[in-house]
Amino acid sequence: MSKLNSVGKSEIRKDAVSKVTGESLFINDVKFPDMLYAATVRSPAPHIKILGINDAEARKLPGVKGIYYAKDIPGENKVPLVFQDYPFLADKTAQFQGQAVGLVVADDPISARRAAALVKIKYKELPAVFDPLEALRKKSPKIYGKDNVFKKFVIKKGDIKKAKADVEIEDTFTVNYQVHAYLETQGAIAVPRDDGGMNVYGSMQCPFYVQDAVAKVLGETYNKVKIVQQTTGGAFGGKEDVPSIVCGHAAMLARLTGKPVKLIYSREEDFQSMSKRHPGWVKIKYGAKKNGKIVFCKVKYILDGGAFATLSPIVLWRGTVHASGPYEIDNVLIETYAAATNKVPCGAYRGFGQPQVSFANESLIDMLAEKLNMNPARLREINAIRKGGTTATNQKITESIGLLKTMALSKKSAGWAKKWKKPSARKGVKKYGIGMASSIYGVGLGAGGQHLAKSGSFVQIEPDGSVIIAVGNTEMGQGARTVLSQIAAETLGAPYEIVDMMPTDTSRVPDSGPTVASRTTVMSGTSVMNACKVIRGRIDKVVRKKLKAKGKVLSENGFYKIGNKKISYTEVIAECWAERVHLSHAGWFRVEGTTFGEKDGQGDPYYVYTWSTMIAEVEVDTETGLVEVLNFISAHDIGKAINPREAEGQIQGGSLQGIGYALSENLVIVKGRMLNPNFTGYIIPTIMDSPDIKPIIVEEKYPKGPYGAKGLGEPPLICAAPAIANAIYNATGKRIKALPMIPERVKCA
Ligand code: MOS
Repeated sequence: MSKLNSVGKSEIRKDAVSKVTGESLFINDVKFPDMLYAATVRSPAPHIKILGINDAEARKLPGVKGIYYAKDIPGENKVPLVFQDYPFLADKTAQFQGQAVGLVVADDPISARRAAALVKIKYKELPAVFDPLEALRKKSPKIYGKDNVFKKFVIKKGDIKKAKADVEIEDTFTVNYQVHAYLETQGAIAVPRDDGGMNVYGSMQCPFYVQDAVAKVLGETYNKVKIVQQTTGGAFGGKEDVPSIVCGHAAMLARLTGKPVKLIYSREEDFQSMSKRHPGWVKIKYGAKKNGKIVFCKVKYILDGGAFATLSPIVLWRGTVHASGPYEIDNVLIETYAAATNKVPCGAYRGFGQPQVSFANESLIDMLAEKLNMNPARLREINAIRKGGTTATNQKITESIGLLKTMALSKKSAGWAKKWKKPSARKGVKKYGIGMASSIYGVGLGAGGQHLAKSGSFVQIEPDGSVIIAVGNTEMGQGARTVLSQIAAETLGAPYEIVDMMPTDTSRVPDSGPTVASRTTVMSGTSVMNACKVIRGRIDKVVRKKLKAKGKVLSENGFYKIGNKKISYTEVIAECWAERVHLSHAGWFRVEGTTFGEKDGQGDPYYVYTWSTMIAEVEVDTETGLVEVLNFISAHDIGKAINPREAEGQIQGGSLQGIGYALSENLVIVKGRMLNPNFTGYIIPTIMDSPDIKPIIVEEKYPKGPYGAKGLGEPPLICAAPAIANAIYNATGKRIKALPMIPERVKCA
């Protein structure tokens, strides 16, 4: 392989300057002529029967152009997701406080909001259920099917009853919601087209989900619905499924009024109605030999799905597959449920069901280590999945496994050997502690979403040599535009500076599945690489002709080379255009062969895994319960860092989100009513709260990934919370079994 030109270099982010200068246009910055503004009428209570609606007052407000309900929907009143249980607008009943019931359009956003507030819903409250464990009981009010179970899974490897352990440990852990807290709230603009179709622009992760939703809500064919992603101010999973609702509403209003319609959420309604990380309950048990070898693991894991299924089935699935941690265990029994409750529907959030269960299994590993009188790092090393080892689903790991390296490098960076001492050795009011946690992460959608595991792209070299790439995945801040440009530049031999990715547009590329699950570098990256290889083959022929040489064409710093002869990229591309060589190609990549047994959960659920270890150093004020993270090490085997600085940024951002999840982010919902739907009461860490987060990148190449890359988006969040919980225990001798570990919990533990 020739020396790499762009891949592996920390090239400057494509969107760095426009974001820093404020030139980026987010959806609320965009205007169309004659545009109307929308606002949403929402359910005032968690479970209601709608008896009638009085909107006479609202309709009288100046500027109000219309108020619409379920009956006015031109197409189907079902958001197309995993199941079809969620209506775009509540019709006879509403199942959570904040669920959309009606939509107002007006000349300006303030009139629209005022009118929405004047719409009076006449209703009767219905029996409701708020706790997932209660929801699963026989006598609870039923809001989904006969048992409130959206989905259940089981993984059965070996036989836990036959496993002979010397030491056993079991405990129960609970985790709360997490709010995505993207800087930009949800928003969309729908613009009617003169051919009867609809264009929708919006803040989103998954334009093809939105295309599906808009086509369904309008009763329109897909070719008349074009979705263009606007510059998106953060998503983290929170713009995976719910933009289907926001964009569906805007599109329906644009169809009904014949005008462009803008719908932008306030922070409060975004909190109340958009998806969240699932709260959960985990009961987990490990059994081990005296020498530390874990012989069985038993897990019962319940997610609180909220009022509609949305993505709960697949969030649960990812959590299920990873529930026993990154360890080789011969006997595993995992049983999981997603339960329906009368609260905001939960969905995707970075880690997708894994951070919840990781808090439980990695806390319990430390508890097991103590029972075995063993250093917890050593216990992890003994049980770590190694090359040739198997996961809970009995998948044999044959390549690209850097788990032990992440452990070794993070321990070394932290000075673990010197700093880890038993809690009893910690003195003083402010106590120091150090804790570790590790995780395994299946890249991509896996067997649970294999039908979506595909990716289209389009690459074109322009007459001046500059390059357009279009993909079906999106840039939402994670750096896809930069990394995919690097992959294209590398494969084509083009300078990075003149390659760029277009805004994602459903009319340019085929449905490429969602931009989630750390899948974009591998999926779109391979798709782009495949397209570029075809074009490069055509270019190489011209290079050979021009250089009058045979053999392999290498590229280096803007030149193509054969042996000692070289010619510039610009000259070759000019010659290609002069010869009318076809310099564009549509790429495609799909993944096959992932499996998951319905009865026993055995199989190869993912094509490749990343591996992570985090170490937190904390100081706990035992008088106030306040925890300060002094130092945080976050080590990840990602195959290959296409752009090391971007990868480090991802690691730091994800880890800080994990620190917020661990320590401060506390959404309070009492009897279905959200008490702190704002940043006054819901505390996310700011840069002032961030410890020094040290990223460590391990590169155990994945031969089938583009230039060896696996994926990175989600892992940096997953085991942050248990690393901190373990550090708090190491400082104080108090085991916190519930998230978030706010001062009152730490103080009273
Ligand atoms: Mo992600 S939580 O898979 O958008």
